[in-house]
Amino acid sequence: MAGKLIALEGIDGSGKSTQARLLAESIGADLTFEPGATGLGRVIRQSLLHSSSKEISISIEAEALLMIADRAQDIAENIAPAIYAGKNIVTDRFSGSTIAYQGYGRGIDIDTLQDAIRLATGSIEPALNVLLDIPVDQAMRRIAGTGNQTDRMERLGIDFLDRVRQGYLSMASADPDNWYVLDCDRPIEEIAEMILSRVRDLL
Ligand code: ADP
Ligand code: TYD
Repeated sequence: MAGKLIALEGIDGSGKSTQARLLAESIGADLTFEPGATGLGRVIRQSLLHSSSKEISISIEAEALLMIADRAQDIAENIAPAIYAGKNIVTDRFSGSTIAYQGYGRGIDIDTLQDAIRLATGSIEPALNVLLDIPVDQAMRRIAGTGNQTDRMERLGIDFLDRVRQGYLSMASADPDNWYVLDCDRPIEEIAEMILSRVRDLL
């Protein structure tokens, strides 16, 4: 039987990486992330997130296509092999991120984006998207608490991230069977337990 893909989604600082790791450990699934989980992906991630606008200019359409190219490679190297070998795989971000950030955030037409995403994903879709929902100011405080340098997307500011958050909520309410929305203003262990319970139902 084919394995299942489970995607964790949310704005920066919502706790996706923490929960993706805990979920993969709990269910014995593989773990991947976007952008950057392949050799090509690392090059894409570096140019998208850690280059200054002085070094390199990136149009919003180029940004979208690079995120999608990263996904195509993540699918080829990590996701498809796992699924076809019957293993479940958890991903820290997937297509929902492109719709939320490049569609709702940047303003690219969503149907056009969906077409481009389909080129990368083919028939592979998450069996479930888990949306870690959190107000932007709270997520910003968490990011500040990590002491890590902010990346190019995080520097876009509160209005941008609020559009992204509202975009995620719209996607989830339009397709409730495929999205599980969690209010993330609660302890890490509690969230992990809720996700695990929902995912166990699915598996
Ligand atoms: P993301 O991958 O969504 O950016 P992370 O999992 O890296 O988020 O978490 C960002 C920061 O917030 C980390 O310092 C992490 O320890 C902290 N964090 C994650 N989940 C919670 C939570 N439920 N409550 C408080 N802090 C959290
Ligand atoms: P990520 O490493 O998950 O950052 P964080 O842990 O802070 O959430 O993602 C890096 C950034 O890339 C993040 O700001 C969201 C952005 N992104 C897009 O804009 N579109 C996409 O399709 C993906 C996958 C990520």
